[in-house]
Amino acid sequence: MAKTFKYIILGGGVSAGYAAREFAKQGVKPGELAIISKEAVAPYERPALSKAYLFPESPARLPGFHVCVGSGGERLLPEWYTEKGIELILSTEIVKVDLAAKSLISAGGETFSYQILIVATGSTVIRLTDFGVEGADAKNIFYLREVDDADKLYAAIKAKKNGKAVVVGGGYIGLELSAVLKLNNIDVTMVYPEPWCMPRLFTAGIAEFYEGYYANKGVNIIKGTVAVGFTSNSDGEVKEVKLKDGRVLEADIVVVGVGGRPQTVLVKGQVEEEKGGIKTDAFFKTNLSDVYAVGDVATFPLKLYGELRRVEHVDHSRKSAEQAVKAIKAAEEGKTVEEYDYLPYFYSRSFDLSWQFYGDNVGDTVLFGDNNPASSKPKFGTYWIKDGKVVGVFLEGGTPEENQAIAKVAKVQPPVADVNQLAKEGLSFASKI
Ligand code: FDA
Ligand code: NAD
Repeated sequence: MAKTFKYIILGGGVSAGYAAREFAKQGVKPGELAIISKEAVAPYERPALSKAYLFPESPARLPGFHVCVGSGGERLLPEWYTEKGIELILSTEIVKVDLAAKSLISAGGETFSYQILIVATGSTVIRLTDFGVEGADAKNIFYLREVDDADKLYAAIKAKKNGKAVVVGGGYIGLELSAVLKLNNIDVTMVYPEPWCMPRLFTAGIAEFYEGYYANKGVNIIKGTVAVGFTSNSDGEVKEVKLKDGRVLEADIVVVGVGGRPQTVLVKGQVEEEKGGIKTDAFFKTNLSDVYAVGDVATFPLKLYGELRRVEHVDHSRKSAEQAVKAIKAAEEGKTVEEYDYLPYFYSRSFDLSWQFYGDNVGDTVLFGDNNPASSKPKFGTYWIKDGKVVGVFLEGGTPEENQAIAKVAKVQPPVADVNQLAKEGLSFASKI
């Protein structure tokens, strides 16, 4: 017998939690909504896993960071879902989705049926075993996506006190994990193929600051090469990392952050896709009127830039979830909501650093401020200029007011007459907008 719900959210991550809160706000009757998650815990703020969760002193632990504390909202404990009559179906992996039959089947053989489905399965990590890297299945080679992964890494950090770690990848995971491993007194070497870290967003000028800062903290950085193999000891634990350039690094722990992939496999071929994600409209509705997709898996119209985009960041996962639920509830009353009009916002924190980015990182760039990694209070940023207008702004070390100012610039897109003048004005340009 299938368990039947009016609404099912497939996935129990950030989007799922924010969608549940929005359903509760809009009004949902007991028994109408279920969240099905392969994780064993209620939705939580995933960004904590690569930061405070791994701190050497007083690390963050659940229930401390259930959604929606990351955006200053109410913390939704498991009891909250019970009170609202929202069914949290945890430790349940869905292995088959039949969108025509409106049914989901779990690994345990249960069947669930729905009237409206919200796909919120997020991303999965890309593994070195996917490319057949020799020895990549050794023990103590870690990936980080879910709380279980973070628990295993935390245990290894404690077991390998003062040991050596190699961090493979120079993106978000690479930079955040290298910092937190270093705080745990682990000897850290980062390895990545590009000429500078986080090339998806950083310019050479921005990266120079972070690489210098990390080096001053004692993090070793090896650029322009990749890990091609691992050796292990008699217990099967990783011992060495072999690099393509011939170098061999000792390692007690390896953390791999070589990118994510949206988890769309369950609906592949059943729904329209675009740019690697599930194609939606401005209300996160797919080409099927009873199927929505939110968060990392959605490829949606980014109105500001007039194109379809997929965004793998937490702010969008929260807002897309809220938008989808508002649209679903409005449609039931024959109403509509405004189109999603998103301003991309990404951030990261590591050591004593904190940056924010708003807008689009395309066009020419202008670096401003103090980007000396040895400064006691570095504050610097970059403007991206396209067709004579500022379209993106990055700021390290900004105050809340300054961060608000750069967000406004990215949204307003003010014209720039003189690039040299902009470089001179720096942050004061943003504060005037
Ligand atoms: P999310 O990954 O949160 O949730 C997906 C859920 O679906 C999971 O619970 C998963 O188990 C479940 N699921 C998947 N397949 C399933 C199946 N078949 N059956 C049942 N359940 C299934 N962003 C940012 O802007 N700033 C930051 O600092 C960070 N930091 C950060 C740290 C780490 C370690 C990670 C991994 C990611 C970040 N991010 C981030 C990115 C951000 O967390 C991410 O964009 C959102 O979590 C996406 O939300 P979703 O709900 O789409 O997926
Ligand atoms: P990423 O795409 O940010 O970075 C991947 C990095 O690995 C890149 O530098 C890439 O060139 C490098 N790389 C690729 N192949 C490699 C190889 N064979 N050897 C060495 N390096 C290689 O992805 P990520 O850091 O793994 O993050 C995974 C997901 O988690 C993303 O969706 C990301 O947005 C999200 N995340 C976001 C934040 C944040 O927003 N602050 C923090 C953590 C994670």
